[in-house]
Amino acid sequence: MNDVEYWDLCAEKGLRQGMLWDNFKKRRMINNFLSNYDFTDRKILEIGTGFGVTAAILRLSYGGFHYTGIDISPHFTQIANDMFKHKMKVGSISAIPAEDNTAEDIFLFDVLEHIDPVQRATAYKELNRVITDDGRVFMNYPCDIEESGHSRDFEFGFSDRDFFDFIEAMQLKLFQFQKYVLNVNGFVNHYNFTVLGK
Ligand SMILES: C[S@@+](CC[C@H](N)C(=O)[O-])C[C@H]1O[C@@H](n2cnc3c(N)ncnc32)[C@H](O)[C@@H]1O
Repeated sequence: MNDVEYWDLCAEKGLRQGMLWDNFKKRRMINNFLSNYDFTDRKILEIGTGFGVTAAILRLSYGGFHYTGIDISPHFTQIANDMFKHKMKVGSISAIPAEDNTAEDIFLFDVLEHIDPVQRATAYKELNRVITDDGRVFMNYPCDIEESGHSRDFEFGFSDRDFFDFIEAMQLKLFQFQKYVLNVNGFVNHYNFTVLGK
């Protein structure tokens, strides 16, 4: 199975009888963190959108909301567009379908840990290409690979070392770094939410 097939399957499993399955507690945390920032008239690019729930919630909170999303899975992309009327495109972080220097805010929620470490340098180069000179990056990721429910073929973890490598490659400053813990159906999960900027 390749990565597109895997994520298409995840999308299929996440949609049950027309309803989305989501990690609702985590979604609320991410959107609570984001509510402290102003996205009015900022050009947002989300990569690895999944169903696009974060953006759907956010869109209702801002007047000028300029949002583009990409996901490697055609199935996730289709559902996100149908359900939330997003204009998401199929695309990979390794070849982002966006012009240079156009993304003022980049969202990466639970995505980088799914990028094969050998492909990360290419992904970071692409992110650097599309981010504007005053760009910000909003990220969420699980701290522990053991806590992921995903297949190890598509889950590589994102360690503190990986985080520092990312900051260095992107030449970013750290604005916020927030650890949080969630108990989801008896499973304890540790996450980091972070905001970085040029
Ligand atoms: C764990 S899900 C997170 C989805 C969403 N961001 C959220 O917060 O629910 C990871 C997402 O990244 C997407 N993805 C995986 N590899 C990707 C790649 N190389 N480029 C773009 N998206 C990718 C998957 O299809 C999936 O939607």
